[in-house]
Amino acid sequence: MKKIYLIGIGPGNPDYLTIQAIETMKEVDVFFILEKGERKGFEEFIKIRKEILEKYLDSGTYRVVNAKIPERKKKGKSYREGVKTWRQQKAEVITELIKDKMKENEIGAFLIWGDPCLYDGHLEILQHILREGSVDFEYKLIPGISSIQVLAARHKIPLNRIGESIVITTGRRLKKYTPAEIVNTVVLLDSYSTFRHFRDSDIDIYWGGYLGSRDEILFSGKLRRVVEDLKKIRSEARERKGWLMDTYILRQPGGDE
Ligand SMILES: C[S@@+](CC[C@H](N)C(=O)[O-])C[C@H]1O[C@@H](n2cnc3c(N)ncnc32)[C@H](O)[C@@H]1O
Repeated sequence: MKKIYLIGIGPGNPDYLTIQAIETMKEVDVFFILEKGERKGFEEFIKIRKEILEKYLDSGTYRVVNAKIPERKKKGKSYREGVKTWRQQKAEVITELIKDKMKENEIGAFLIWGDPCLYDGHLEILQHILREGSVDFEYKLIPGISSIQVLAARHKIPLNRIGESIVITTGRRLKKYTPAEIVNTVVLLDSYSTFRHFRDSDIDIYWGGYLGSRDEILFSGKLRRVVEDLKKIRSEARERKGWLMDTYILRQPGGDE
């Protein structure tokens, strides 16, 4: 039976790979690298995967197969419908890769940004492909360091203070929160500086862009004082590199310390 591994590689630094990830990579026959159209910065995501392979594996011991996947269409359908259609298209590409680019009993792998179980669709896509039934395989996941862990470590803060909850959400959902509901709220996937909705509150922000990479930027402060500075940092960073990946924690001061 063919096997597919989803291997977490951490969010942008080859040193974030776990020993388990490296040992698992050594078993793999073929690595699939998916390329998302012309999206800015995408070559950097491919470059880091190639760097990881070269750093930890002997050349000639594995194959690399690149495949193009379509961009997610942001106009028209609702967000949920748009993601569903996009995942279906990705599933079709991955099905063909498993069918055509792997021999029986071979192991194929995807190097997954951060951790494969945090805001990443590959696991559900594999499960969907198996349900469709046109190709059969076993699969396993190797956890990775997530952007959230790197953010907390780089700011030297715990994600929660004694007995508090942690909420992990997206920029899209954050808008629905009131300031009183913000405890330790970790926000991913926010293109629109949604933290600005809390500018009149007493909330603190701990922000990180390009975490783990040479371009890493860290910034923190009381939102009501730093909103404009942070918006500027974000737009300058996006201008400079052409793309931005950032994560932040919003937190009420004090806590149960
Ligand atoms: C599709 S999610 C993938 C999350 C990933 N699986 C993880 O474990 O971190 C992409 C979001 O993760 C966050 N992210 C991933 N890598 C990052 C990095 N190096 N620096 C800052 N944020 C990052 C950003 O919020 C980005 O929009």
